[in-house]
Amino acid sequence: VWTPENIIEESVRNIRRQVGKDKVLLALSGGVDSSVVAALMHKAIGDQLTCVFVDTGLLRLHEGDQVMATLARHMGVKVIRVNAAERYFDALKGVTDPEEKRRIIGHLFIEIFEEEAKKLEDVKWLAQGTIYPDVIESAAARTAKASLIKSHHNVAGLPETMRLKLIEPLRELFKDEVRKIGLELGLPYEMVYRHPFPGPGLGVRILGEVKPEYAEILRLADDIFISELRKHELYDQVSQAFAVFLPIKSVGVMGDERSYDYVIALRAVETTDFMTARWAQLPYEFLDTVSRRIINEVKGISRVVYDVSGKPPATIEWE
Ligand code: XMP
Repeated sequence: VWTPENIIEESVRNIRRQVGKDKVLLALSGGVDSSVVAALMHKAIGDQLTCVFVDTGLLRLHEGDQVMATLARHMGVKVIRVNAAERYFDALKGVTDPEEKRRIIGHLFIEIFEEEAKKLEDVKWLAQGTIYPDVIESAAARTAKASLIKSHHNVAGLPETMRLKLIEPLRELFKDEVRKIGLELGLPYEMVYRHPFPGPGLGVRILGEVKPEYAEILRLADDIFISELRKHELYDQVSQAFAVFLPIKSVGVMGDERSYDYVIALRAVETTDFMTARWAQLPYEFLDTVSRRIINEVKGISRVVYDVSGKPPATIEWE
């Protein structure tokens, strides 16, 4: 019978049999799949596993610290955190095209990951959080965007160039099964049931050129939106929600003074497959609360708008 305990027990046996005494490397993104692989592999082979977590500067508020607190400090997983924000912002300077941004972010990730991997000795395996739907999807015809998504998220191509063998312990599991295993392994509910977050992160939620000061503003606004969703028990009712930074200025009044600041767009959607989606009809009162908080608390923002576009024709992300 399928129970999380059974699956974990069997996976642990398989992992041990497969890798023996070899060392294993894992690119930890902080997302559900790679976190569950990290916890599972750690249970199976302990310190033979090393994770590399790249802080791109394009993560959400406190995300890097949370990953380190949960996996490294709390669970005892060996995690190397690479603070690469400056490299990302340098590489993205002057770049405005969304696909070009994706390409740069993806390539830089692979470059940094390879640099870290080279510092480690005798690594034989690369673990990846591929799940069953990924396997199906890569067998089917894919759009350019989808293949980019994969190439960033699952670091395709890495095992060949690094001469590593690939181990994918979640390959036969669906997302809900991965989540149940995650909980059973002791990962926090909030981490296991977090909305999806794109590989390029805030890089595609800051429209046009990505600048550190924009990322700073966006992180704060996004955190207000998400924590209010949680507080009002709306988070689990929507499939994905986030803030988008618009690098355009609009006029406002703050006290007696005129302000001239940037705009934040809020996006929340309901979907089962992410191929089509409806905009979430969040209560007006709720939107009002979020808007007031963002304008009052986040310096540099004078206007908040709510995205009422369905997919299709709009995509879920703005870029
Ligand atoms: P769109 O915007 O295409 O998004 O309607 C559908 C889902 O895919 C996510 N997404 C990405 N995920 N790398 C990723 O890992 C990407 O480049 C990327 N672009 C979109 C998006 O967040 C949504 O869940």
